[in-house]
Amino acid sequence: NVNAGILGTGRSYPEGVLTNADLEKMVDTSDEWITTRTGIKQRHKAAPDEYTSLFAVRAGRQAIESARIDPLDIDLLICATVTPDQILPSTGCLVQAELGAHRAAAFDLAAACSGFIYGLALAREMIRGGRIRYALVIGAEVLTRYVDYTDRSTCVLFGDGAGAAVLGPVEPERGILATRIRSDGRYAEHLYAPGGGTRLGTTPETLACGLHYYKMRGNELFKVAVRAMAEVALEVLQEAGKEARDVDLFIPHQANQRITDAVAEKLGVDPSKVYSNIAWHGNTSAASIPIALDECVEQERVRPGDLVLMASFGGGVTWGGALLRW
Ligand code: ACO
Repeated sequence: NVNAGILGTGRSYPEGVLTNADLEKMVDTSDEWITTRTGIKQRHKAAPDEYTSLFAVRAGRQAIESARIDPLDIDLLICATVTPDQILPSTGCLVQAELGAHRAAAFDLAAACSGFIYGLALAREMIRGGRIRYALVIGAEVLTRYVDYTDRSTCVLFGDGAGAAVLGPVEPERGILATRIRSDGRYAEHLYAPGGGTRLGTTPETLACGLHYYKMRGNELFKVAVRAMAEVALEVLQEAGKEARDVDLFIPHQANQRITDAVAEKLGVDPSKVYSNIAWHGNTSAASIPIALDECVEQERVRPGDLVLMASFGGGVTWGGALLRW
């Protein structure tokens, strides 16, 4: 009887940085507004010649090295992204080729900010079911390509990067103890990019109207996000027979410091156990949790035996939770 656990992690992001001071020169905003309303001080922004798979490959390679496996050991490669390199083929396949993971089944997973948790849930089930042995789950985004830098309500939020984790078999009492993934398409227009797909296409008109840019109802999202993340976190805790006070480290999706604080308070997780890097990265969608996890590993914020809680929320809307014994 095996369970699935995280054997290695990695992260990568552009060197380029967009600070609040930079944004002050672009739209009617201020460092003070952005800091107090979101907690963000800067976000990484890809250069024009940088793209999603570049960061996915670097993060994936680190995860493979830290897991001490061979790329050919990987049976499943999931690239969670809503900002693929191109429409065809999947970014997962492009990453597979670069990594030399030629035995894997590779594909993209589109669940916005919840993509990494979705990938974790799927890979875990396949490992537990005995179908596969090793999976590489990557969250990678270059969101800034779809950000309208004349819209102050969205352009302050998003950043670029990738995080990755190798999953493999561990003893049943360790590893991922519970996962839960959810969505509700009735809220699709809370965060969406109407253009660029088969419905409206990419025409001079859609481009002129900026229909490929993200449109967001920030206020509505905020409320749904807090409720959904807290709910799903409680569900995974319950499934594993744990309580919020047992949690050693809480890694929420990094969307807004006020969302993180509200969720932690709702759950009753002590602030000292909540990880936040929002000040430096902004919201990197599917990449946010695996980037944060890799930072926690590097900083030894997570130690063997720790109970680690993750919760995400994003466009779709989608949300999910995972509980792990590290
Ligand atoms: N600078 C200055 N003023 C601004 C800015 C800005 N960058 N953006 C908005 N404002 C103004 C608004 O125009 C509004 O002005 P008004 O009162 O004159 O109309 C005022 O600030 C308040 O706007 P709100 O939208 O109510 O501000 P709020 O406190 O809700 O913060 C924010 C907005 C940061 C977008 C917040 O709602 C949020 O973070 N929502 C979640 C969005 C999110 O995370 N989306 C990503 C995907 S989902 C996810 O990852 C969870």
